Amino acid sequence: MNSILSDRILNMEESATLAMAKKARELKSQGIDIIGLSLGEPDFKTPKHIQEAAKAAIDEEKYFSYPPVAGYQDLREAIAKKLREENNISEAKAENIVVSTGAKHSIANTFMCLINEGDEVVIFSPYWVSYAEIIKLAGGVPVLIEGTLENNFKATASQLEAALTDKTKAIIYSSPCNPTGSVFSQAELEAIAEVVKKRENLVVIADEIYELINYTGKNFSIASLPGMFERTITVNGFSKGYAMTGWRVGYICAPLAIAKAVEKIQGQFTSGGTGIAQRAALAGIAGDQQSSKDMADAYFKRRGIVLELLQDIPGIKTHIPEGAFYFFPDVTAFFGKSAQGHTVKDADDLCLYLLDIANVSLVTGAAFGAPNCVRLSYAASEEELVEALKRIKKALGELA
Ligand SMILES: Cc1ncc(COP(=O)(O)O)c(C=O)c1O
Repeated sequence: MNSILSDRILNMEESATLAMAKKARELKSQGIDIIGLSLGEPDFKTPKHIQEAAKAAIDEEKYFSYPPVAGYQDLREAIAKKLREENNISEAKAENIVVSTGAKHSIANTFMCLINEGDEVVIFSPYWVSYAEIIKLAGGVPVLIEGTLENNFKATASQLEAALTDKTKAIIYSSPCNPTGSVFSQAELEAIAEVVKKRENLVVIADEIYELINYTGKNFSIASLPGMFERTITVNGFSKGYAMTGWRVGYICAPLAIAKAVEKIQGQFTSGGTGIAQRAALAGIAGDQQSSKDMADAYFKRRGIVLELLQDIPGIKTHIPEGAFYFFPDVTAFFGKSAQGHTVKDADDLCLYLLDIANVSLVTGAAFGAPNCVRLSYAASEEELVEALKRIKKALGELA
């Protein structure tokens, strides 16, 4: 019998990060002491003033009905103001903002609005797992351009130029990047913008969800460059910088026609994002930013700890990430080696080996378009990180 399920879903990959986290949870529930470094999730609590705003919104009893599809006006205004003042996106107005149920939803909405069957989307690889699946779901064709370890995994403007065809509709990158933590500099984004501006009907989707976890001290939004506002969909949200993954609030800032299209599709699929969560998000974006800065400082400290421990493991090759909370080391030195009934052919095997023997969960780089690497999230306590790295070093040392 043919499957009752659509080709659309049968052709879709499961999220590798969520799959690894599920496996780790199963082992944990059997009483095994697993240290989970696979999920891209802050280990901090949502700041108190944001929690309080949500409680106050419930008590006000004003936010229980369907919110406006594109988000509450005051939240959209606060987002636009932030983008003008902090990201130098001077054209950003409330009408350009659409608030959705997380940045993942914003990205899905955007591709659904942009892509016709067969349109190509250039993805800067290594890339966040969901981009390619969402693009395919929308009927598009992902085209990868690959950054090398030597260039901090950042693909270049000339690689982009070479990848463009008559069918290219959009390009997408994240900066700071998941999975590599790399950050595009202003000069690199200017070069990318020059390539984009040579084409008609080509837009950039700039995923800036890790904006607040950036150790370079310089955030740069491509939409702030001359002529780029009309060609850029800036994606951002509250999950990472405000430790609000479970609240599910993300947004886009887009040229009006695209913002309207996203609002239209959201109106048919999900309606506006959860009212109480939007009130919490407003307190986050309009309130004191110190808690976000404190979290970024804590990630920075952990990055230093993990870097030192990783550099002490023979065979591991890593760059120094400039943002987000990930390391993305090259682990090819371990391919072809064996220990304790495991043979490590590739990064997938290495992750399974480390889960089984070191009881540490990482994610294979294959899920991010880089099969020679693994992703390690350092959104975990310093104690956990030190213990995890000790176990990883021991387990890797046993491979021969
Ligand atoms: C690069 C990137 N973009 C978007 C998202 C989605 O974030 P949200 O929780 O707002 O849906 C994530 C989450 O892991 C991410 O890493």
